[in-house]
Amino acid sequence: MRTGLTYLLKSLAVLISRLSAFAAQYRALPTLGFTHFQPAQLTTVGKRATVWIQELLWDLRNIKRARDDIGFRGAKGPTGTQASFLALFDGDHDKVEELEKLVATRSGFQYIYPVTSQTYSRKIDIDVLAPLASLGATAHKIATDLRLLASLKVVLFDANANSDMTDVIGQEVEEPCESTQIGSSAMAYKRNPMLSERVCSLSRHLMVLQQNALMNSSVQWFERTFDDR
Ligand SMILES: *[C@@H]1O[C@H](CO)[C@@H](O)[C@H](O)[C@H]1NC(C)=O
Repeated sequence: MRTGLTYLLKSLAVLISRLSAFAAQYRALPTLGFTHFQPAQLTTVGKRATVWIQELLWDLRNIKRARDDIGFRGAKGPTGTQASFLALFDGDHDKVEELEKLVATRSGFQYIYPVTSQTYSRKIDIDVLAPLASLGATAHKIATDLRLLASLKVVLFDANANSDMTDVIGQEVEEPCESTQIGSSAMAYKRNPMLSERVCSLSRHLMVLQQNALMNSSVQWFERTFDDR
């Protein structure tokens, strides 16, 4: 889990960096802002992107916290006690502690959970999946904004030039389109924002996964039950 979160943090940092460059580039480009999805007031393309970036930065912080909090279960027996190790070392408690530290270090962990049952607490799964589900909400919001913008076909003019059609910069947001990509069998001219659609779909799946951790953690009877398998 820790390694996986590290991969994710790197990708997220790249995304934030690219989006920041985009926001800086278009910081002064005016566009129509919406409240309640109704045309409201002018904003800028770059400013809108900063709303996305801020949420991604919070996700980065939360995921990093979750990763850095992950500890090691340690060398503990089937009910979470160290009775079998104590017997192995003829009652030498120090050796039991030392073994646990050595095993943890070999596994790349400094922090060992002081108390466990047969397994590490499934609350840990909740704490890892929570910031991931939250990232899902951020990604879903961003991709939905992109889908709506792609549909609106808002045309942008160069504010510094004379406003006739020769100054049209382009549409605010459009997904890249392959040369052979077709919209649908009946309407080949359509340009569906299919990348954003996929982001939304995967995001919903990510958000739903957290429910599993909540359910699983809540049914851990005593030291552990097996009805969760
Ligand atoms: C639920 O927790 C148990 C530990 O009691 C674990 O073995 C199992 O993989 C978990 N199941 C899911 C679906 O997370």
